[in-house]
Amino acid sequence: MTVVCRKANVDDVNTLFEIIEGYAEKGIMLPRSKEVLARQLKTFVVAEVDGEMVGCGSLTLLGPELVEIRSLGITEGYKGMGIGKKLVTFLTEEAKAQKIPKIMALTYEIAFFEKNGFSVVPKEIFPEKVWKDCVHCKKQHCCDEIAVLKRLD
Ligand SMILES: CC(C)(COP(=O)(O)OP(=O)(O)OC[C@H]1O[C@@H](n2cnc3c(N)ncnc32)[C@H](O)[C@@H]1OP(=O)(O)O)[C@@H](O)C(=O)NCCC(=O)NCCS
Repeated sequence: MTVVCRKANVDDVNTLFEIIEGYAEKGIMLPRSKEVLARQLKTFVVAEVDGEMVGCGSLTLLGPELVEIRSLGITEGYKGMGIGKKLVTFLTEEAKAQKIPKIMALTYEIAFFEKNGFSVVPKEIFPEKVWKDCVHCKKQHCCDEIAVLKRLD
């Protein structure tokens, strides 16, 4: 099985929407409309197997020293094959290329991120985050996601 990670393009919007919407309905991802996806396309990467998109993720700049991994999801049937790890590596390389020293995520998948070199940290150390997407989240006053962080310098 050959997995290819690449930056997203306009042809990916519908499939990105389907993957993210599937997880948003389960309450483990924030929903993104096709319009928002199209506007934020530059921040997205995708993973393909034999030309079929089987995963995605995005990188959002929260400040000059911090980026967040968002919308990381693998299609059911393709989990546990190392594709998530490849996407996180791809996103991490992107952050390094931009010389950003810290990469974080808010997640329920702690073990997965720890295997990728992240450590659990208190959410309170990320004030920038509060002013971004959290204001649109139904769980903003009862957030049960765990913050994980990796230093890249
Ligand atoms: C979390 C997710 C992205 C992981 O992707 P994946 O392709 O299944 O994971 P990988 O196969 O790359 O796993 C990498 C490593 O993490 C481990 N791992 C993955 N998921 C795990 C879990 N839930 N619990 C424990 N370990 C896990 C794997 O065993 C593997 O370990 P290894 O390197 O020792 O073999 C995927 O399960 C997913 O899409 N989940 C739903 C959406 C979600 O929660 N996204 C995170 C939002 S930030």
